[in-house]
Amino acid sequence: MKISVSYLSSKYDEEKTIKLIEQTNADYIHVDLMDGGFVSNKNFTIEKVHHLLINHKKPLDIHLMVFDPIIYVHDLSILKPEVITFHIESTKDVVKTIEEIKKHGIKVGLSIKMDTDIYELMPYLSLIDVVLIMSVNPGRGGQTFMMSSIKRLNELQKIREENHLSFLIEMDGGINDEIIKLVSSLDIAVSGSYICKYDDYQARIDKLKEEV
Ligand code: DX5
Ligand code: ZN
Repeated sequence: MKISVSYLSSKYDEEKTIKLIEQTNADYIHVDLMDGGFVSNKNFTIEKVHHLLINHKKPLDIHLMVFDPIIYVHDLSILKPEVITFHIESTKDVVKTIEEIKKHGIKVGLSIKMDTDIYELMPYLSLIDVVLIMSVNPGRGGQTFMMSSIKRLNELQKIREENHLSFLIEMDGGINDEIIKLVSSLDIAVSGSYICKYDDYQARIDKLKEEV
């Protein structure tokens, strides 16, 4: 399992947190971008994200919690992210947005909120690289993992197997060294406050990796 570290909820400012993540063996930096519309918090402008991440070394796993994600793709492509994930609930143009991300040579992720039926992903699963299952309500770090996400993970794995599909499954929200044991079949786990609220980033990442 790969670990993607979210710097949204952290002891230090974003600049220092990103530097500390870069010093670990985390697999990705998880970049949570919120527009104050799709979720109530707002935390970015394109200029700010460029400033923070233009010299990144680790692969970027961008998680867009915004309406009309298509309008950000071109500007974000300058950061050469590994994957851009957007929410199935955030646009009517899901296929168009998938195509736009692909056109820039970037992998595509589709995220789904807790209360959206997992079967709504069906028409898109053969077109995308990653499904990001939310295990909290999107919008802020430090929330409690919702146990019902485990059933959703199992269901999605069954769908992937039965349809011979190859997308990766990522989960986001409330993952710590206890929860990780319950979702050990994930391909990618996002973890934020469990790591970034403390000083021992690498020890915490080691702990996550040794539990699976
Ligand atoms: C929630 C974000 C998550 C979150 C993860 O809206 O998408 O990435 O910051 O942080 P923790 O691990 O603290 O839930
Ligand atoms: Zn996220």
